[in-house]
Amino acid sequence: MLRYLLLRNPGHNRVYYLESEKLALAELTLTLHRLEQTCASIESVDLVGVNYLSFIVEKSLSEYDLAWLSRLSFIFALFVQVVGDESNLKPVALNPPSHIDPKISMLLKYGGKTNEIFTRMMINVGLLSSDYSFTDSIQLLDPVAGKGTTLYEAATSGFDVTGIETERKMVHETTLFFKRFLEEEKYKHSLTKHSMYSSSTGQEAFIQLFEYAPDKQAFKSEIDRKHLAIIAGNAIHSRRYFKAEKFHLIIGDLPYGIAHGNKGKKKHTSRTRSPAELMQTTLPEFHKILKKGGCLVLAWNKFVWPREEFAALLYTTGFQVLDADPYDQFTHRVDQSIKRDIVVARKP
Ligand SMILES: C[S@@+](CC[C@H](N)C(=O)[O-])C[C@H]1O[C@@H](n2cnc3c(N)ncnc32)[C@H](O)[C@@H]1O
Repeated sequence: MLRYLLLRNPGHNRVYYLESEKLALAELTLTLHRLEQTCASIESVDLVGVNYLSFIVEKSLSEYDLAWLSRLSFIFALFVQVVGDESNLKPVALNPPSHIDPKISMLLKYGGKTNEIFTRMMINVGLLSSDYSFTDSIQLLDPVAGKGTTLYEAATSGFDVTGIETERKMVHETTLFFKRFLEEEKYKHSLTKHSMYSSSTGQEAFIQLFEYAPDKQAFKSEIDRKHLAIIAGNAIHSRRYFKAEKFHLIIGDLPYGIAHGNKGKKKHTSRTRSPAELMQTTLPEFHKILKKGGCLVLAWNKFVWPREEFAALLYTTGFQVLDADPYDQFTHRVDQSIKRDIVVARKP
């Protein structure tokens, strides 16, 4: 029997402080359900003063299993030892996704940015809880995209990604940033901008669409050419922007009403700390554009909207909310006014 030991990224503690181990164990547990062999004794262990997460399996992990482990948001290094021979610790090579350079989501720092490790975790939890795998041609939407952390993290995995953002300035900055990134990395790419629809209020939505590949040859291939799109629009109109059941994953960090306001339908409710109003209008839209077996993962501040109310609204809309252990382990304190949690819901 073999014991695998995972060393966590030292930055992980900074993101979640005292709760980082709990979140890492929850993400690991979901990941281990996807492996080709059964895993036992999933736990946190200390070896000569160093903390690891560990689990036991019968035999060596396959390439496929290692690919799942390499995707973990917190993983820094992996070791293996034979159970009963604790003196030997052998390093195991990881193979993290790098369709585009993963450093992309670390380059920008701005107020209201979602931490990239947390973002990667949300994407992983969504994928692990869906009927799909990283080997599928995943279509992912972030309906509250900000300056694109989710889009970049998902693009690193080779997913096709789309973001919606109400603030035109942010859409503009994201477009410039990604264009410069592709140029510097010498990717073959194209950028097109077109109008999507005009609402009765005269508000127009437009899309900036990047198509890109590492080189000319790959750009010609339907499979190797990837898409990253940003819509300057409003999540409340999601259904008008996309065909039904387009997305495998919908992932987003909802506005906290501090750096950003929720822009709902009604004219005089543009700034509120609770995302409840935004969710009432958008969840039915999200339900229509999500594929069956697809998954929705949204982060929000539990202090301003209780989890039970969020879950009840999701059920009413037709989602199946995943609530059992380890899905109840993702709550963590960000600061005095924010207790962040994620809700994970499937379209049955
Ligand atoms: C917490 S931020 C997301 C940050 C993003 N994950 C990042 O790292 O850049 C939430 C974003 O939602 C946007 N937003 C608020 N209401 C919206 C709506 N109805 N449709 C689309 N975007 C909205 C805000 O402008 C803000 O940029």
